[in-house]
Amino acid sequence: MAHEAERDPVTGQQTTGHEWDGIKELNTPLPRWWVYLFWATIAWSVVWWILYPSWPWLTTYYPGLLGSNQRLEFAERWQAAEAERAAWLDRIRESGLAEISADPELFTFASRGGEVVFKENCAACHGLGGAGQRNYPSLADDDWLWGGKLEDILLTVRHGIRDPSDPDTRESRMPAFADLLTPEEIADVASYVLSLSGQASDPEAARRGAALFAEQCAACHGDDGRGIREVGAPDLTDAIWLYGSSPEAVRAQIADPRHGVMPAWAGRLSEEALKMVAIYVHALGGGE
Ligand code: HEC
Ligand code: HEC
Repeated sequence: MAHEAERDPVTGQQTTGHEWDGIKELNTPLPRWWVYLFWATIAWSVVWWILYPSWPWLTTYYPGLLGSNQRLEFAERWQAAEAERAAWLDRIRESGLAEISADPELFTFASRGGEVVFKENCAACHGLGGAGQRNYPSLADDDWLWGGKLEDILLTVRHGIRDPSDPDTRESRMPAFADLLTPEEIADVASYVLSLSGQASDPEAARRGAALFAEQCAACHGDDGRGIREVGAPDLTDAIWLYGSSPEAVRAQIADPRHGVMPAWAGRLSEEALKMVAIYVHALGGGE
């Protein structure tokens, strides 16, 4: 054809013969390397079609010569991970609390697992990280109602506190002193309680209250007011209050006490989960 021979005067290159408004298109071929790469990718895709699942059929699909199946691969890996987890859980189940704490790997596994259990089951009442809130004790400090050793914590979590559904629950009831003492006596003993933690109170009333305390309260809260863990009676001399430190709150607790309830977790959590969450709580900062 005529235009094949036509050359561009400036570059000396052939033109395609296409012309727009006097501008002619140069016939610049694709670079060789590009063309080879292009054919190579096509060849590669054909190999890929044959080796791997590719073409859909009516009800199934062409599975490929390699029989590759990502869903199966995922399931296998998942199973392997589960088996590994199960092996750890077996070790937790078979080991004592002290053994778990002494083995760094097992301890790490247990406290990580315990953290998950805690977030799912305990944080709603005890706060994230066991920080506690009004009416719900902090589990991250070293002030314990019922005890902060690993065994104490596990027992508390397993059987709960004042949970009527568990016969082995931790039990104790502070009496309602509105039935036993006059309002004046309640005010006096409240003044004494406030003085124990160094809060402002009427010294005369506190002196009268001290005698009442020895009679009515020391059996549970101790002669010095530092609490007795066997009955979950709090230390009244520190700055940590479950139900508030104001004179009104203290008088209300004496007259008509609250009885904090913590659900029992035996039966709701697996044996491993109970141990793991006890280990986690113990490691929050206050463990004994
Ligand atoms: C429905 C609210 C609630 C939930 C959920 C709950 N707790 Fe408690 N927990 C309490 C209350 C209330 C107390 C304090 C009981 C008392 O007054 O003696 C308590 C006390 C405790 C104590 C004793 C603290 C001490 O000072 O001796 C531990 C340990 C504890 N909880 C751990 C847990 C763990 C672990 C979980 C999750 C598996 C959990 N709790 C879930 C309400 C709850
Ligand atoms: C039978 C045991 C018992 C007796 C007796 C008793 N308490 Fe208590 N007291 C407890 C228990 C248990 C608690 C914690 C209740 C809870 O955890 O829900 C408590 C809680 C308190 C609290 C709340 C502390 C806080 O951190 O908010 C105050 C205040 C208190 N008692 C004062 C007294 C005074 C004053 C008397 C005597 C007039 C008295 N208690 C007698 C068992 C007793």
